[in-house]
Amino acid sequence: MSDGTEGKRVQLARMGCGELRLEHVGQQVALNGWVHRRRDHGGLIFVDLRDRSGLAQVVFNPQEVGEEVFAAAERLRNEYVVRVEGEVRKRLPGMENPKIPTGDVELVASRLVVYNASAPLPFSIDRPGDVDEAVRLRYRFLDLRRPEMQRNLILRHRVTQAVREYLNGQGFLEIETPILTRSTPEGARDYLVPSRVHPGSFYALPQSPQLFKQLLMIAGLERYYQIARCFRDEDLRADRQPEFTQIDMEMAFVDREDVLAVTEGLFAHVFREVLGVEIPLPLPRLSYAEAMDRYGTDKPDLRFGLELVDVSEAVQHSAFRVFSETVAQGGRVKGIRLPGQADWPRRRLDQLVARAQELGGKGLIWMVFLPDEVRSPVAKFLEPEVLEGIQKALGVEVGDLAILAADEPHAVNELLGRLRVELGERLGLIEPDRWAFAWIVDFPLFEVSEGEGRLVAAHHPFTAPVEEDLPRLESEPLTVRAQSYDLVLNGVELGSGSIRNHRMEVQQRIFNLLGIGPEEAQRRFRFLLEALQYGAPPHGGIAPGLDRLVMLMCGASSLRDVIAFPKTASASCLLTEAPSPVDEAQLRELNIRLAPEALAQS
Ligand code: AMO
Ligand code: AMP
Repeated sequence: MSDGTEGKRVQLARMGCGELRLEHVGQQVALNGWVHRRRDHGGLIFVDLRDRSGLAQVVFNPQEVGEEVFAAAERLRNEYVVRVEGEVRKRLPGMENPKIPTGDVELVASRLVVYNASAPLPFSIDRPGDVDEAVRLRYRFLDLRRPEMQRNLILRHRVTQAVREYLNGQGFLEIETPILTRSTPEGARDYLVPSRVHPGSFYALPQSPQLFKQLLMIAGLERYYQIARCFRDEDLRADRQPEFTQIDMEMAFVDREDVLAVTEGLFAHVFREVLGVEIPLPLPRLSYAEAMDRYGTDKPDLRFGLELVDVSEAVQHSAFRVFSETVAQGGRVKGIRLPGQADWPRRRLDQLVARAQELGGKGLIWMVFLPDEVRSPVAKFLEPEVLEGIQKALGVEVGDLAILAADEPHAVNELLGRLRVELGERLGLIEPDRWAFAWIVDFPLFEVSEGEGRLVAAHHPFTAPVEEDLPRLESEPLTVRAQSYDLVLNGVELGSGSIRNHRMEVQQRIFNLLGIGPEEAQRRFRFLLEALQYGAPPHGGIAPGLDRLVMLMCGASSLRDVIAFPKTASASCLLTEAPSPVDEAQLRELNIRLAPEALAQS
């Protein structure tokens, strides 16, 4: 836009709205931004002007601006995009706004350029409030104007920069890997892309760069990282997106300790640079078995106690059959002590039992420890020595509440693990601003898949077994530990990784156990098996999820709040309306014909 005043513009300091301070008083400056709010006050017009650096108050005073500019200022509406030039002045005494960093000063406008008007808004940007998320996502370009969304994306940028800074300093190379590729099994469904040139053949979008990063190690690149996009067609939740980003890393000539040390250094650096927080190293470690036992989950929230305690021994001979029969059948009875919670009214206890049932539990027993009695629906069934045993195992004192559940080990852990987190939150036991990192190590190499009863990889099929367990690989596969590790932060699985199989023989044995026979292995992983025969070095790595990390660092409750253009729970983009039907001609070119059911829907 040329209005013959470019010469003058160049001389003006161009500043961010949020940068104005007392030290700028007396300076002529130019601000570009959006009208966040406009107020008319007895002949004066106040505009809160917003850009990504923050808000500044602009005053249009008819005494100081021409009639024409004042009239233009009167026509300003929310989200008009403008340039204002003027002088920075100290606000009049009593008019300061301590809530914003620019609150001591204001810009007294002398000139106004309206770059563009704005249509009436579908929701207000200046008042956060409850806007339907679907509307926010449809008008994401407006939603992203909201200061908290900008703050989240700025923080995300600073995290990726800090990651690059640290890894570059550690000798890592940033290398891109293909998006159009072959399936990499990370346990989800693949997104497929049909090939036009090869009718009937498909690319898969990578669930992770797993195999490429291993090939880079075999290729001698030694240390690789990538801020990598990954694609997984899976059931979505608040902490899962179909398209997400990993801080993907791989290193050659390393063992587990090396990978953990580099990762710890990375997180300490990121938290120091971005939040100014010191993370004490080394990070605590828990074995998978211990995590399950004490917290009922492999991603324990270590910001509070309420640990699970096994009371099976104490109750195994009780006449109360729920307990004794469960133990006799190989199940466990476990409990949680809730210190000082003996004053719960009956209704609240009943709600907790109902919640346990909602979570799939068979039941929940509560016990209230009063000075002269133990109140519980099962008190009359429990022998004094059993009661004493429970009390001792849980370490309860007068004034405490305890809850107990009996079931097969997995189910008890699942139930009490979830109740523990809900209770921790509800009882206000989670200190804000605490960063409870932990490594979970010594996972089993295999799990038994639910339903089918066959072996599946607990991490992924390329994970190496612990060397000393190798002789039991075929005879007792479920007892074999993996050289894998998970990084957990505040109850969220932040990243997983492992030392890989660099010997083809071991990799083939694992494929066999997973039911991937030699033929299928050749068909799906020929390139990997081949590469393993040409001097593959020992190697391993990890992939922390960037979206989850930024979500936690921002205090956001959903990944959607830290991804510029996210998808909904049904994997659609409300902004672009993807996915969408395509032209018949495009399909023909790809040799694709839709099934009648799909045609009916599109
Ligand atoms: P894994 O599958 O455990 O490991 O993924 C690593 C991390 O990626 C993040 N993540 C997700 N974030 C958002 N939405 C999703 N749908 C999603 N899925 C995973 C999590 C998770 O901890 N190749 C291996 C890593 C390795 O072995 O080096 C891998 O992808 O934070
Ligand atoms: P019932 O024998 O089903 O009437 O249950 C008696 C009490 O035991 C009730 O308070 C149930 O909530 C509780 N209960 C039943 N099964 C379990 C279980 N597996 N774990 C914990 N409590 C249970």
